[in-house]
Amino acid sequence: MDKLRVMSVFGTRPEAIKMAPLVKELAGREEIESLCCVTAQHREMLDSVLNVFQIQPDWDLNIMTPRQTLSTITSRCLTGMDEAIESLRPDLILVHGDTTTTFSGALSAFYHKVPVGHVEAGLRTYDKYSPYPEEMNRKLVTAIADLYFCPTENNRQNLLKEGVDQGIFVTGNTVIDALKTTVDKEYRFTTDLLNRLPYGEKKILLVTCHRRENYGKPMEQIMTALRRVAEDHPEAELVYPVHLSPAVQEAAKTYLGNHPRIHLIAPLAADEMHNLMARCYMVLTDSGGLQEEAPALGKPVLVLRRETERPEAVAAGTVALAGVEEETIYAMASRLLRDREAYEAMARAVNPYGDGFACRRIADAVLWHFGRGEKPEDFHS
Ligand code: UD1
Ligand code: UDP
Repeated sequence: MDKLRVMSVFGTRPEAIKMAPLVKELAGREEIESLCCVTAQHREMLDSVLNVFQIQPDWDLNIMTPRQTLSTITSRCLTGMDEAIESLRPDLILVHGDTTTTFSGALSAFYHKVPVGHVEAGLRTYDKYSPYPEEMNRKLVTAIADLYFCPTENNRQNLLKEGVDQGIFVTGNTVIDALKTTVDKEYRFTTDLLNRLPYGEKKILLVTCHRRENYGKPMEQIMTALRRVAEDHPEAELVYPVHLSPAVQEAAKTYLGNHPRIHLIAPLAADEMHNLMARCYMVLTDSGGLQEEAPALGKPVLVLRRETERPEAVAAGTVALAGVEEETIYAMASRLLRDREAYEAMARAVNPYGDGFACRRIADAVLWHFGRGEKPEDFHS
């Protein structure tokens, strides 16, 4: 029997980190030919992940342009995908999450009548502009997909409510599979500053902020709050690997630059980031991925957004929504720095997002779908 040609399509840093262990799992299956097509919606930040996980793409659309718009990303992806699909002739295309690469990859698969598997399916805020454009991207991919790999039961319930009743698997999130391969107690950083940070003496606050809906006023308020936290808490030291987006770079320099206890550094390789997270005091972020990783590592998270599509760790008590208002963020961060009990209540390792075997379940589900294996059991947290 011919091997099943499964093509993973991704383009940004978080998709790459979460698809890397899956690409490897698929490559390890005898029945599967694992193909990898990158759009390079992110260039440097994608290449860093490919390097950490030692993945060589079969196809590279190389679409990134400075200050790219949603329309240019979409149109460049669609045009490039035509040739990739015609040349690599996949039997199934896997897309991940909710970026513009995800949506364009799924739409292109549909145009070529290739079935689609959606990894990280079923996340919702039910606010079409928040996160923007991700909420709409994932809804549109739901309409196109044939297979749905939901990280949690809650995600499955969201799809059932929308009338999807076939092809759903609860697998856990592949990011937990990735974390298992990167975090190590003995890890030595290649970024020298990270080896020299005063982990024992100071409280290291790991910060990231990049979302499009936070551009402008919300980002200004978030960053002003963070600066006040650094100024008023001598025990706190902030480390912020700044996203390469020019809008974010400019805001970070304006509001957080030139402070002795705020380190604005270049984006970190995934293994550096995961090990820094494992050693920090807490995380302040508007990122999706960090909201899943930090709880697994026992680190409290303040989410710098108005809502989250990841309510599981909020329910477990290790993640709290801090919003985008200066006073609230400042007050919540200050409390976690000063109030030991409040901190301890949040600093517990919980794993609602996975057990590290999501990729195995996804590969099994793919083979089952094509009549070549057993149906996997769902993940239960
Ligand atoms: C994208 C995703 C977002 C995801 C985020 C993860 C969309 C619309 N947005 O947002 O869902 O949360 O990635 O980080 O799909 N840049 C570089 N080098 C890089 C990466 C980016 O220079 O390696 C710069 C470029 O100028 C680029 C800009 O950053 O134009 C913005 O990148 P883009 O992918 O459009 O948006 P993100 O904010 O990164
Ligand atoms: N990350 C990284 N280096 C950094 C910042 C983040 O490797 O400097 C990782 C992080 O650990 C997580 C992923 O990138 O695995 C999250 O990506 P991002 O925050 O860009 O996107 P989101 O998850 O919000 O879509």
